Amino acid sequence: MDDSTLQFTSSLDVDSRLAFYDVMGSLAHVKMLKACGILPAEDVDKIVEGLKVILAEVKEGRFDLDYALEDIHTNVEFTLTSRIGPAGGKLHTGRSRNDQVAVDFRMYMRDAALEAAEAVDSLMMSLVKVAEENGDAVMPGFTHMQHAQPVSLAQHMLAHAFRFSRDADRFLDAFRRMDKCPLGAAALAGTTYPIDRRMTSEALGFKEPTENSMDTVSDRDFVTELAYCAAQTAIHLSSLCEELVLWSSQEFGFVEMDDRYTTGSSIMPQKKNPDIAELVRGKTGSVIGSLVTMMVMTKGLPLTYNRDLQEDKAPVMDSMATVISSAKMMSKVVATSKFNTERMMEVTSRGQINATDLADYLVTKGVPFREAHGIVGAAVRHSIDSGRNLEDMSLDELKGFCDRIGEDVFQILPVRRCMERRDSYGGTSPGSTDVQISQAVEQIMSRDEIIRQEKQLIDGCWKALTE
Ligand code: ARG
Repeated sequence: MDDSTLQFTSSLDVDSRLAFYDVMGSLAHVKMLKACGILPAEDVDKIVEGLKVILAEVKEGRFDLDYALEDIHTNVEFTLTSRIGPAGGKLHTGRSRNDQVAVDFRMYMRDAALEAAEAVDSLMMSLVKVAEENGDAVMPGFTHMQHAQPVSLAQHMLAHAFRFSRDADRFLDAFRRMDKCPLGAAALAGTTYPIDRRMTSEALGFKEPTENSMDTVSDRDFVTELAYCAAQTAIHLSSLCEELVLWSSQEFGFVEMDDRYTTGSSIMPQKKNPDIAELVRGKTGSVIGSLVTMMVMTKGLPLTYNRDLQEDKAPVMDSMATVISSAKMMSKVVATSKFNTERMMEVTSRGQINATDLADYLVTKGVPFREAHGIVGAAVRHSIDSGRNLEDMSLDELKGFCDRIGEDVFQILPVRRCMERRDSYGGTSPGSTDVQISQAVEQIMSRDEIIRQEKQLIDGCWKALTE
């Protein structure tokens, strides 16, 4: 092989991050070979001891990589053999790098999926806390970025929270679907050795072995699925960040981010820039890019393993890491931000944001909604022209637009009342947001329990394998 070929085909720079999982996969494999009587006990014992030494080096960051070998799998195997002699050469019995890389990457992504769900949940919790603490603060609700109807800050924060709840759920759904062990599919067709795939699957903490060897060594849709989960989360993060950037502008003045999570300008001393939010928003590009990379890369591949598949790791390892760190950062940004509820109230009172409420009021007085819409339109025009709000007009003035308007109109026009009266299920009233807060907390807690159990199961496997 020409040197340039080795350089071009090497994946070591990226897959060295799989070293820990590679050793664990090998430990499970070789212990199974012993249990099934495929390899003699004394060889296996030597291999296991050698692998444990390598594992310690990997954990301490002192496992030496040899760039003359193209990937992490050959590095581990060749290092082992150079240390324990010919027994090391028996490790690869009944296995191929095709099922090996598949199991390594699954184990890596399995941890990443749990970590992502956890990070997204911590952000969700920060949002829920803001909702709890500022429960009934009134702010403008927007459609088309125009003042639409008054809402509570709690309702707005919870809207983001439930998006993230679905994102965290998606990571766990993807986790469940990828919870099958590829090891033992071998190169593509299975193997002639009497291996026990259930044993390796269980040893590595999977629910069961994959069903079909050819599918197994070709399958990267678990990677694509996580790339999608990451992309969708990044889109939601970006949307939250966009709002926080707007809200922290002088024009909005809704929020002030903590000094610890903002930056200054090198030239303008007064500035406090929302760089974290901007960076998170900006990183969305590469996260979506990874999803596109995966889909395009796999779309025309024949079964089974093709070297194209080596290109799956860098983009999705990167997009998972980006989403995890972004969610963690945003969790802190949200938790430490000061929400200026007075300012929110002030701008909410300024517009004609209670127009729908006046129309709904007319409907209760027997006016058909469409007609009410027209009447209120005229009243709004008049109040804008005279530089006032609807609630600042006198009863006589209002009656001029519709004689069914009575004194009780002044009970429904204050913007706080508009927010409080929307008490339909899922609406913005404090009663409704209280329900939402308990729902959100319950969702976080139940995922928390699943994540805890899965991590415990995986840790238990690592302990058992290295005993
Ligand atoms: N470095 C390879 C990858 O990441 C490992 C599998 C190589 N298999 C092969 N038949 N060349 O996909």
